[in-house]
Amino acid sequence: MAVRTAAAIAHPNIAFIKYWGNKDDLLRLPLNGSISMNLGTLHTRTIVSFRDELRCDTLKINGKEISGEALIRVRNFLQIIRSMSTENRFASVESINNFPIGAGIASSAAAFAALALAGSTAAGMELSEAECSRLARRGSGSACRSVPAGYSEWLAGEDDLSSLSVSIAAQDYWDLIDLIIIVSENHKKVGSTAGHALAATSPFQHSRVLSAPERLQECREAIQNRDFNRLADVSEKDCTMMHAVMMTQKPPLFYWEPLSLEIMKTIMEWRKDGIPCFATLDAGPNVHIICPASVSMALQPRLEKIAGVKEIIRSNIGGSAVLV
Ligand code: DP6
Repeated sequence: MAVRTAAAIAHPNIAFIKYWGNKDDLLRLPLNGSISMNLGTLHTRTIVSFRDELRCDTLKINGKEISGEALIRVRNFLQIIRSMSTENRFASVESINNFPIGAGIASSAAAFAALALAGSTAAGMELSEAECSRLARRGSGSACRSVPAGYSEWLAGEDDLSSLSVSIAAQDYWDLIDLIIIVSENHKKVGSTAGHALAATSPFQHSRVLSAPERLQECREAIQNRDFNRLADVSEKDCTMMHAVMMTQKPPLFYWEPLSLEIMKTIMEWRKDGIPCFATLDAGPNVHIICPASVSMALQPRLEKIAGVKEIIRSNIGGSAVLV
């Protein structure tokens, strides 16, 4: 049979309302919904080919052959694609990131969104956006938010069918910028998957999950009304709540470095002084500074002057995962 190939591009995303903890770890059904924006300047481009001659699935990232856990995760994902389609051959997967690998920017969301689209297409399927988002979720939860365009909400849902992301505003609806301050380039010692599984050991997780619907509503309205201060307040609060859970899990996860905290406090002061900006962190020490595009040019040099800040990556808002 002929080689079947497809390629896709997807962007990473940064969450305003965070995903932390699952009601089903295997299906990646989250305990609470989440909201994010896609990072348009950054992307992963992935090409998938199903071939007769392969004796196992293979994975290359940025030109380098990958083995170990990352390969197993991709193989398990390709297995899901094969079980959904008539394709039963092994595949080669080649991924290229346009952002520095090891910069501590989570790449699994972009990776599995691109792999879901390219893989399902190469296997002969034409998935709807919702179906593709559901599939991406199986590879990495936050990847389901990278499938639709712009501002994306992951509807927690009840089961595999109902847990998926939808776009709540297009990328040109509100021109926000993410200035990502690289605090550490070290790979995280404990990744998200292991972290989610232990979230319930924090005494704060239950109340965080219980109150998430209020913050989701607040965040949705802030985006719809382009109300920056409302978005800033609810996002910072949600981020701190997630990290409070992380820090009180067993064993505890401390992702913040002293410089992360220093930047967060500086940003809060600047906002009090009337500069529209806020900070949010995922499962790592890098700080994402969100601000309107109109102030980002003036803000960036100010951030560069904070002692210890070496590198800032700038991104606008991105569109959906697309075939190329
Ligand atoms: C802290 O989607 O990376 O970034 O499903 O195990 O791949 P897996 O987890 P992942 O978790 C993301 C956690 C977060 C918050 C968020 O992006 O919502």
